[in-house]
Amino acid sequence: MGSINNSIDFKRDGDVAVITIDNPPVNALKHEVRSGLVEALKQIGDPAIKAVVIACKGRTFSAGADISEFGKPMQAPGLGEVIKAIEASSKPVVAAVHGTAFGGGLELALACHYRVAVASARVGLPEIKLGILPGAGGTQRLPRLMGPEKGLAAILSGDPIPADQALADGIIDEIVTGDLTSAAVAFARKVVAENRPLRLVRDREEKLQAARANPKSYEDAAAKLTSRSGGRRAPAAVIESVRNSFTLPFDEGIAREQALFRELVVTDESRAQRHVFFAEREAARVPDMPSGLRSLPFDKAVVIGAGTMGGGIAMCFANAGIPVTVVETGKDALTKGLDRVADTYRTTIKRGRLTQEEMDKRMALISGSVELEAAADVPVVIEAVFEEMGLKKEVFAKLDKVAKPDTLLATNTSTLDVNEIARATARPKDVLGTHFFSPANVMRLLEIVRGKETSHHMLAGAIALGRTLGKVPVVVGVCDGFVGNRMLAKRGVEAERLLLEGALPHQVDGAVTEFGFPMGPFAMGDLAGLDVGWRIRKARGTKAEITDPLCEAGRFGQKTGKGYYIYEKGSRTPTPDPEVEAIIVAASKRLGIERHPISKEEIVERMIYPMINEGARILDEGIAYRPGDIDVIWIYGYGWPVWRGGPMFYGDTVGLPHIRDRLAIYAERSGDKSLEPAPLLARLAGEGKGFASVTAPKGAAA
Ligand code: CAA
Ligand code: NAI
Repeated sequence: MGSINNSIDFKRDGDVAVITIDNPPVNALKHEVRSGLVEALKQIGDPAIKAVVIACKGRTFSAGADISEFGKPMQAPGLGEVIKAIEASSKPVVAAVHGTAFGGGLELALACHYRVAVASARVGLPEIKLGILPGAGGTQRLPRLMGPEKGLAAILSGDPIPADQALADGIIDEIVTGDLTSAAVAFARKVVAENRPLRLVRDREEKLQAARANPKSYEDAAAKLTSRSGGRRAPAAVIESVRNSFTLPFDEGIAREQALFRELVVTDESRAQRHVFFAEREAARVPDMPSGLRSLPFDKAVVIGAGTMGGGIAMCFANAGIPVTVVETGKDALTKGLDRVADTYRTTIKRGRLTQEEMDKRMALISGSVELEAAADVPVVIEAVFEEMGLKKEVFAKLDKVAKPDTLLATNTSTLDVNEIARATARPKDVLGTHFFSPANVMRLLEIVRGKETSHHMLAGAIALGRTLGKVPVVVGVCDGFVGNRMLAKRGVEAERLLLEGALPHQVDGAVTEFGFPMGPFAMGDLAGLDVGWRIRKARGTKAEITDPLCEAGRFGQKTGKGYYIYEKGSRTPTPDPEVEAIIVAASKRLGIERHPISKEEIVERMIYPMINEGARILDEGIAYRPGDIDVIWIYGYGWPVWRGGPMFYGDTVGLPHIRDRLAIYAERSGDKSLEPAPLLARLAGEGKGFASVTAPKGAAA
């Protein structure tokens, strides 16, 4: 409880007033904070006060506006009024920054005369990640400190800027050591003693001159930075607003920024990105998870199998600074696997994203063994051997004998029954799935597959491990394909059907990329390799009408230079190929299907709605706890455009009655019963509700 209100404290340290924001966990600028700040700033008129420090309590400076207040009527005073009150001060106001000064938090600091920060602090304007633009002067003040081009790049990326960089860019004035508030008070006294000028950022023009003299350079930079922003509105608004910083008087720039903010905050794009922000954090919570569980010490690990996934998973550990031993069947396979890991690091060095020194450090954390006994004394083992139930069971039975008690035993299976694998041990409660996505060292999604008997302790451990490895963990239940691949399979069936009915791969992929995916299903198939599925189908005695003939013609995808497309030597650019068209047309003929043109709208519906339908079944079966979990899976595992919020959010945006009706038509046309509206979807549509109405108890965070 502060002296002004619950969130704001006002204290005197001699002749310096110290205003402290205390709104855990991240000092978001909710209404009480804003009104408390205005009240506190009224008190600085006292002649005994010579300077003011604004600091924050707890783990961070302010993380910005309270995102949960967006979309509701704004209660005065707004952040703009707080900023005006700071700028009206005739006494120096110094922001004391630690943790992260993000969004409105940085904008508050930018209104102060000076900013000091600890070396570990980071600043940034991440609003673009919420589909909005900084709405409290960020687009006008940051360019005045960094220059418009640099400021634009910072605001368009939304990425944090470390303190040393912020100092070099002129965003902060000094990096301080020791107790931050005391250092800020000392800095404020120095400003007074030295009679330093009280120049506000709004009045600084020097960094704007270059852009004024050469606006084309700004436009070129803007075009380059937004060449891949698709149909999103926020990037264009940011470009316009930062341009205003050097073409309009300050107050006009601010007024336009506010108007743009108001326009953006009500868009589906921004609602979607706010949804994802909260869904991502909620996904790590398991509804029935008790609090206060003992944590697992992840100080070393074993990965079994040094293939594509095992190598990538080992890199995840090494990248997080955790020593890891990779176990293989023989020396050759082990050497090959570790060489592949080294090659991947070398490529990253070539791309300028890693230093040789960093690579050496990481490689030194990865060791190899051909003995499963290496798993005897580690807190976590992740199995990534071939996808064969017999082999997996054999490995887990051996692990059961070798591993010490309280070891997390995880399988990276993508299709097999985790419960059956768990039963190969006498400790099924310690077994679960950790489904990494390929390439495991890059993709952020981690589906954590909860077995029937998996204990809360191990589940919480796996979630914490996922976070330690920099992943976005989402807990799912056991079923064929889990959440992501089960929905993807539905898209795959429909994609082939579209080809048979009259579309061509580039038309389907074009519609899907225009929707916002980085890649369509056929380009993705060529990248992953078509032969894997072909071999599985041959073993199972099933077939695919188009992919099988492609494979029979040696078209395995990018690896053979041709698949659904043809690739020029050394190129990854897919080019439509008449030979493929002939194979498709022949397949249609063979099946007696009369080909006809299919509109782009229909392609998008048929690529998306069957997935939403399957998502509804997954929710109904309790395989996912919440619609938001499914959305997070698709965004982080499959490149679903974040500004469309994930399939379930998108379903709500389109409206479930429309989706239900279209699915019913497609089901009837194709005779495919799985396209009939899922019971949950039909029920919600009938009740005029959306997936957002399906909620789960919060549960403890791992
Ligand atoms: N508003 C409301 N809640 C917020 C929040 C915000 N700005 N930032 C974080 N939270 C909440 C999270 O939802 C989470 O809640 P639960 O514990 O209930 O899940 C809690 O605070 C802790 O957050 P994290 O788990 O993310 O904690 P962290 O330590 O890993 O990260 C952080 C801290 C780096 C600040 C991160 O939370 C973050 O990036 N926050 C968002 C920052 C942001 O986007 N700010 C811009 C806001 S828009 C704006 O300011 C507009 C403007 O111009 C005025
Ligand atoms: P892979 O074929 O590239 O590698 C498997 C490795 O396991 C081989 O190096 C093999 O020598 C080794 N191995 C086999 N038996 C072993 C044993 N008893 N002990 C130690 N090592 C053994 O396979 P990949 O692609 O890495 O897949 C591994 C697992 O990950 C599978 O369960 C797969 O379904 C799953 N997965 C694969 C994805 C992918 O995109 N490749 C994505 C997600 C999961």
